[in-house]
Amino acid sequence: MRAAVYRSTGSAAEVLRIEDLPTPEPGPGQVRVRLVVSGVNPTDWRLRSGATAMAPVAGFQVPNQDGAGVVDAVGPGVDPARVGERVWLYLAAFGNPYGTAAEYTVVPQERAVPLPDGVAFDLGANLGVPALTAHRCLHADGPVEGRTVLVAGGAGAVGHFAIELARAAGATVVATVSGPEKAALATAAGAHHVVNYRSGDPAAEIRAAAPDGVDRIVEVALADNLALDLAVAAPHASIVTYAADAKQPALPVRELMVRNLVLRFMLLYSVPPDALARAVAEVSAALAEGVLTPLPAHRFTLDDTAAAHDAVQSGAVGKVLIDI
Ligand SMILES: NC(=O)c1ccc[n+]([C@@H]2O[C@H](COP(=O)([O-])OP(=O)(O)OC[C@H]3O[C@@H](n4cnc5c(N)ncnc54)[C@H](OP(=O)(O)O)[C@@H]3O)[C@@H](O)[C@H]2O)c1
Repeated sequence: MRAAVYRSTGSAAEVLRIEDLPTPEPGPGQVRVRLVVSGVNPTDWRLRSGATAMAPVAGFQVPNQDGAGVVDAVGPGVDPARVGERVWLYLAAFGNPYGTAAEYTVVPQERAVPLPDGVAFDLGANLGVPALTAHRCLHADGPVEGRTVLVAGGAGAVGHFAIELARAAGATVVATVSGPEKAALATAAGAHHVVNYRSGDPAAEIRAAAPDGVDRIVEVALADNLALDLAVAAPHASIVTYAADAKQPALPVRELMVRNLVLRFMLLYSVPPDALARAVAEVSAALAEGVLTPLPAHRFTLDDTAAAHDAVQSGAVGKVLIDI
């Protein structure tokens, strides 16, 4: 099969090559998926660059956690009726050399989730990392029905699904963005209120939309936004951080204590297994109900996997997809 491969970490241009690899055979409990679309996330370029480390499991790594395709073979212990099933994938490259930037991958069968009839492969390839992260950030501290959720960076991939899942779960959603293009994306995703965090008085605007304060904050930039979060958080609110940038926050402990706030951190790779299973099930249900949509796509070919990684690294607005 043709695959994008790296054998050491470094810049995309230096280490990513398109190679012919033996097509993998599914082992016990695994399915083999013929990929149609691979979705690229920040974690994919970070792992490839060496900025974050993951223990290597083979002498090579096909990058990318997310994708969508069709099951074409199953290993021992897997229902043969799954052959021909359309699926979306999550954590394909986690503990596995076969990520989704290739014609085929083999994954544990639970990481290949049925894609409902009529749902495009593109949407399937948008889901994995962003939608499961958004689900966990929203729901780790209890139901959000009737609550107010603040989604920082509402036009990002995680922010997009946080808005859609929160709204579908019955929350009032306030999203922050940096400008009009991103405001349009957050509004299209269903945010009830969209606030520019770079201009005017964002705390006052959020307070106007949520006079009693916000109950849950899905936070992409804790160090930058902690003061804003504290200015708008209701008593007992949770601030759930899923991104680690270089800047470290200074914690105003007393201020956090007085309102009994919860500061939670979330990494998809180590989410408790029951929470991950619940996220997969509830994202699937939302998909079947038609409440999830893809972000505008930036399309690349498999030959251009390095350029696709660079596009994500340079902050492409929307979703970077690779057509296999
Ligand atoms: N913990 C996990 O398991 C996990 C899972 C998924 C992603 N992540 C990490 O989370 C980050 C975002 O991922 P993504 O896929 O959603 O990326 P993305 O699609 O590039 O979105 C990031 C969004 O954050 C916004 N943003 C940046 N600084 C901000 C600030 N100070 N306040 C409000 N918004 C801000 C950006 O827009 P503006 O700059 O224009 O505001 C952009 O819309 C990445 O660092 C990624 O590695 C972690």
